[in-house]
Parts: sequence; structure tokens; C-alpha cells
Amino acid sequence: MGFGLKRRLDSDKQAKTRMSRARAAIILAAGQGTRMKSALPKVLHEVGGRAMLDWAIAAAAAIGAQRTVVVTGAHAPVVGEHVARVLGPGTVAIQDPPLGTAHAVRAAEAALAGFDGDVVILYGDAPFVPAARIEELFATRAAKGGLAVLGFDARNPFGYGRLVRTEDGTVSRIVEEKDASVAERAITLSNSGVYCADARVLFELLRLVKNENAKQEYYLTDIVALGRSAGFVTHVVMGDEADTLGVNSKVELAAAERIFQERTRLAMMEAGVTLIDPGSVFFSFDTEVAADVVIEPNVYFGTGVRVAKGARIKAFCHIEGAEIGEGAAVGPSARLRPGTKLGRGVKIGNFVEVKNAVFGEKAQASHLTYVGDADVGARANLGAGTITCNYDGFDKHRTVIGEDAFIGSDTALVAPVTIGAGAYTGSGSVITKNVPDGALAVARGKQREIEGWADTFRAKKQKAKDKE
Ligand code: UD1
Ligand code: MG
Repeated sequence: MGFGLKRRLDSDKQAKTRMSRARAAIILAAGQGTRMKSALPKVLHEVGGRAMLDWAIAAAAAIGAQRTVVVTGAHAPVVGEHVARVLGPGTVAIQDPPLGTAHAVRAAEAALAGFDGDVVILYGDAPFVPAARIEELFATRAAKGGLAVLGFDARNPFGYGRLVRTEDGTVSRIVEEKDASVAERAITLSNSGVYCADARVLFELLRLVKNENAKQEYYLTDIVALGRSAGFVTHVVMGDEADTLGVNSKVELAAAERIFQERTRLAMMEAGVTLIDPGSVFFSFDTEVAADVVIEPNVYFGTGVRVAKGARIKAFCHIEGAEIGEGAAVGPSARLRPGTKLGRGVKIGNFVEVKNAVFGEKAQASHLTYVGDADVGARANLGAGTITCNYDGFDKHRTVIGEDAFIGSDTALVAPVTIGAGAYTGSGSVITKNVPDGALAVARGKQREIEGWADTFRAKKQKAKDKE
């Protein structure tokens, strides 16, 4: 045993040196992900509208990791760029070539230089590991010392590493499927791959890992047996199989999405949201819905949506990047795009699209309307077929509609343009100039009637047809 390990062991035996230690996370994301059959690296595929890697990063943040390092492969520079954007500089380690999970963790050593504390290993393709389980791993290590591993009882353990336990319940080693004996294969207690260890101990143990196994890889799982010989016992924290789910293919990605949706629907209903047909409503990781909101069937929430209490989202709506005020009604078949803010009691009806627009209290657009880049005053009423013409092929322009204004059906509002408070626009108008408060603007061809025209026209046409 190296001198470093021996000294660490002495200090690890003292409970008080294990308390309130700094925390770090290492997230492995260097796998090729070839089974995804995608140009997009596996860990950037989304579950619940958030990249799988970002779920792991969020878990690390939730447990208060002061340092987080993501290990990526040389084949996927976009993963490194993504991480640098999300976590800042010095948070990416490159493993090239990938020689196994132990080798991957070693790649993070330089990025964690100078860190003295506990570290948890997470995975960029396992989005559901709950922060509460990671807390338990840290707590177990704080209470008992040594290493902690998250295990679970697998319904079908095939393919997982198995936790081989001693009589006292601690883990003596982890054996991979391909290296396991018949008796070991019968063990259902499986390895999630999530571990917690003293960072320095971890890196010391990793130096001892060899690749003498069926896959000729450096197995991270070997730290358990190596740790035990060095005096660091591994304790198990039990988790749920669904929490440890890893994604390798589009089929598994869809399975993960299903789990996310089912859990979110349940949580929503438990928080007082009414879902008439839960299975047909889709949420994102950050969807916020207050109690006493009713969501009718077939509604899709993209990211960045907040719905205040008492609102009703009617059937077949697609909503993203929108704030929906108290008691507002949306749909059926409405589309709210990013930058939409609906005040209290706003009504958005069928076949209405709203983008980057603010609706004041009780304003309404009930039918067949496009409102983009606009401010709509309180109580303003947009008639059927109102269109904001916000784009000239180069730039977007804003439309401002005053309070209590009444926009006649089929009005085209050519932005930039302002409709004054309480003003009216005549149906079918194309409004290109500002309208003062309280005025009526009519901008359409004047109607005239030609007496008898229809009768003459029909007679002429009929005569020509009879001749043929
Ligand atoms: C691993 C565990 C196994 C556990 C299972 C849980 C090992 C040796 N085995 O097996 O005990 O039951 O996870 O799902 O650790 N990775 C790298 N670089 C590498 C190799 C892997 O970053 O060189 C990453 C992969 O992208 C993946 C994770 O590590 O996210 C696990 O690798 P994988 O090959 O899936 O390991 P398993 O065989 O599933
Ligand atoms: Mg795997």
C-alpha cells in the first residue's frame, strides 16, 4: 500500500475528519454513444427538455458540489463546449482513447488538482439519479468512512455489475457480468456505478486498477476490492432501479422520457393541478403550474413555462417560453411561443399564435389571430383574423395596442405601429399609420353596389354555355 493511502486511512478512521467536507462531482460522458445513431452526442440528447448531461450537472449542483468535472471523449468536442458554457472554464477533462470507467475517472484528476474532500461519480447518460440518494452516499461515508456505492435490486440484473457482499452487508467487490461466476450471476443486487469516496483515496486506488478482465478495460468497479485490501470498506446505499437508468439508444431515450413524464404528471396532480387525461399532457423539466389550474387533454409544454393559479389550458395547445396569468384561458388549439406574457384573466382562443408579446389584464384574442412582437393593453379586444405584420424580411417591428382598444376582424397591423387607447379599427383594415386614442381608423377599399350586375353576369355566362 502506498504511503499516501496509509496516511489517508488513519485520518479516514476519525469521524470528525469526515464531517462537513468539501464536495466535488465527476461526471463521465466519454462514451461513444454509437447506438444512438445520431450526429448529436448521446449526452446532449434531451429528457424533459433538458440535455441528459445537464440533469447530472444539476444533481451535482443540488448536492453543493464546489467543483464539477465532466469527462468527455475526443470525438465529441461539442460536449466540451457545452460544459464550458454551462460550468465555466476548467471543468472539462478529455479521455482519449476511452479505456474504461476507471481510466475515465483518472482523466479528471488534473482538473481536480488541489481538491481535498469527497467526490461523487455520476454519468452523463443517467439523468434520474436523485440528489437525495447522493446525499445519502455522502452521509454514509461521513458516518462510516471508506467508500459508498449506490446499489439497487434489479428485476433482471443481466449486464450490470453485481455487488458481492460479506456477512456484515458491506461490499467486498463488484463483479461485471462477463467476469462473473454462475453463482455471482444469480445475485440481483446491482451496481448503479454511482460512488462516493475521498477524492485522494479514489485517485490513489485508481492507480492500482489493472485491465485484466474479459473486456480488457480499466474497471472503476475494481476500486471496491482494492479499497478493501487497503482498509477502505464499501457500504451500500439502496436506490431504485428506475433512478439509475442509463440511456444508450433512442428506444431507451423514449423510455427515460416516459419515466420523466409519468413522474412529473404525478407530482403536478399531487400539487393540486387538474389533468383530465394525464397521459396526453407533456411537461418540461422546468414547467411550473400552480394549484387549481386545469389542463385539458393533448397539451405540450416546452421549456420555460409558468402558469398561475386558476388558469385553464384547453385541449391541443403547444406552449413554450410563456407566462400565463391567474385565471387566464388558453386554447383550444393555441400556440404560445417564447416571450409571451399573459396577464390575469386574458383569453387566448382557438387558432391563435402569440410570440414575444405581452397581454394586459383581461385582453383577448379569441380566434384565428397572430400576435408577434406586441404590447396589448388591458381589456383590448382583438377580433378574429387580426394579424400583426411584424417582419419585413430583415427586421422585427413592434405593435402597440392601447388599453380598451377594439381591433376589428381581419385587421392587418403593419408594424411598427401604435393603436391608441380605446381606439377602433374597421374590419378588414390594413393599418400602416398610428391611430390616436379614441379614434376609428378605416383603411380599406370603399364599398359600392352595382345594381343588377349579378343577373346580367349569370345570363351572359349561361348563354355562352348553351351554345357549346
Ligand atoms: C458500468 C459498471 C457496472 C454497472 C453499470 C451501470 C464498470 C466497469 N461497470 O457498466 O458495474 O452496473 O455501469 O450502468 O464501471 N465511460 C467513459 N469512458 C470509458 C468507458 C465508459 O466515459 O472509457 C462512461 C460511459 O459513457 C457511460 C459510463 O461511463 O456513461 C458507463 O460505461 P459503460 O460502458 O456503459 O459501463 P457498463 O458496461 O454499463
Ligand atoms: Mg452502461
